[in-house]
Amino acid sequence: MPKIRCSIFFSVFFLVISLSSSTLFAQQLGYSSNKNALGSQAMVVSPHPLASEVGLAILKAGGNAIDATIAVQFAQAVVYPRAGNIGGGGFMVIRLNNGETATIDYREKAPRKAHRNMYLDQAGNIVPGLSTKGHLAAGVPGTVDGLIQAHEKYGKLPFQQLIQPAIELAENGYPVSQTEAARLNRFQDDFKAVNDDPNPFIKENWKEGDILKQTLLAQTLTRIQQKGRAGFYKGKVAKAIVKEMKEGNGIISRRDLAKYRAQWRAAVTGQYKDYTVISMPPPSSGGVALLQLLKMVEDYPIEDWGFHDPRTIHLMVEAERRAYADRSQHLGDMDFYPVPIDSLLSKEYVEGRMANFSPKKASLSSDILAGAFQGQIKESFETTHSSVVDKDGNAVSLTTTLNSNFGCKVWVDEAGFFLNNEMDDFSSKPGVPNQFGLVGAEANAIQPGKRMLSSMTPTIIEKDGELFMVIGAPGGSTIITAVFQVFLNVAAFGMDLEAAVNASRFHHQWLPDRILIEKNGIKEELKEKLKALGHQMYEVNYMAVIKAIHRLQDGSLQGVGDRRNPDDDAKGY
Ligand code: GLY
Repeated sequence: MPKIRCSIFFSVFFLVISLSSSTLFAQQLGYSSNKNALGSQAMVVSPHPLASEVGLAILKAGGNAIDATIAVQFAQAVVYPRAGNIGGGGFMVIRLNNGETATIDYREKAPRKAHRNMYLDQAGNIVPGLSTKGHLAAGVPGTVDGLIQAHEKYGKLPFQQLIQPAIELAENGYPVSQTEAARLNRFQDDFKAVNDDPNPFIKENWKEGDILKQTLLAQTLTRIQQKGRAGFYKGKVAKAIVKEMKEGNGIISRRDLAKYRAQWRAAVTGQYKDYTVISMPPPSSGGVALLQLLKMVEDYPIEDWGFHDPRTIHLMVEAERRAYADRSQHLGDMDFYPVPIDSLLSKEYVEGRMANFSPKKASLSSDILAGAFQGQIKESFETTHSSVVDKDGNAVSLTTTLNSNFGCKVWVDEAGFFLNNEMDDFSSKPGVPNQFGLVGAEANAIQPGKRMLSSMTPTIIEKDGELFMVIGAPGGSTIITAVFQVFLNVAAFGMDLEAAVNASRFHHQWLPDRILIEKNGIKEELKEKLKALGHQMYEVNYMAVIKAIHRLQDGSLQGVGDRRNPDDDAKGY
């Protein structure tokens, strides 16, 4: 099998560095991040320069966008361990250059022994931390099967070649960035609380440039390289996961692992003016909510009002309030609950939802119940995303997660990776908020084998039938509103993609009834106008972290990583 050998791989990125690295950052690390790239043929945007470099090398070696995305996901499982993963799950949205679309859902599933009250005490109250930290918080991982199935259907290069760079990065180690070192230091107590044995992440005082080697992870990735899905869901790795479960009161079994299958689903699609939006259906709420939001604002003259005009923000916030109320009530895993997608996206329904919108006054969330025709939310900011376009115009938007930073913090001894804490994305108790402040109901109640509701919004947008944008983000419940706003920044307000991504954002999720705004992101005068309409505001440091590609009018590609993550990186050629 052809392989990207370590020496070639490292010489490629050291060459890139030696050409461009005047900064201290680059000299210490051997890599640096580029936030805004132009390419005449192909583009990769990911949360880490080493992951982007892997994707670019695969594209240059003749791989298509699906190949490059798979390689990027495996690489970020090594170099972005707080969210990149093989112990978690995600969603991939694909648009081929002939217009064919597909999505693969490799979201984690509740284990067979899971039940709806598993995070409640005898009095029926939530036991704090049980769904977020430790073994019981983990869902059955989906990433490996999802990537393998995506490759079987659309891959061009051999799978073994796509995983090889990740194996080498794990085996040889890589220098951690300042951001990663800070995260590793922040979570030391959590690592020690749920891991009895030493592991490569447990170390005092991580510093930028320290080398993180993951020998066991390299062995696990090699097993997957040699045996495909059986290399993870059966044999030594499956045994190691189950042993880990037994040691910590977890419930994932050999049978759960052997039976896990990712699921192909038709994309959720819809129109906004001249644009066709292609996004992820449930169990993600992302695609449905994004389309609802766009339809709710479509008939208002936001282009004339402009960016950060109080009328624009008020309208968008009121749309967000209504879409998130619907999310809380109606969205969950379609394999278990009849999600009324067509009704939620119908023109009559959306118009009805906005019928009580007043341009002069904020609504109260207590008055905005979920839309009535039949039959709430959970999620952390530590997910991650990659956007890829290849030289033939095939595009992939992939969002993947362990949920919180380093998932449930349990590192599988003998197999070398963190497990997710995705079970917290279920509604553990109706009406009680999860770590994102989201509430849920029956649609998202825990059942064995069910997938938990997500906000991940990997999205591809066409304009007049041509590829226009590939976009997505980490950021928990704020992902949907970030994708909504960055797209409109370009499509309605005419911003260049870099300005659109970096512009300050706002977020309303129905409950709690307040607008989240980014620090120093909204001028005082504008805040006063929003307050006069009845809005309350709450400041946070930052929200979702967008990674996007814009196909420009001349056919070239602009890739942009977000200023909000110092390691975000765009690379094209
Ligand atoms: N765990 C974050 C999400 O799925 O939305």
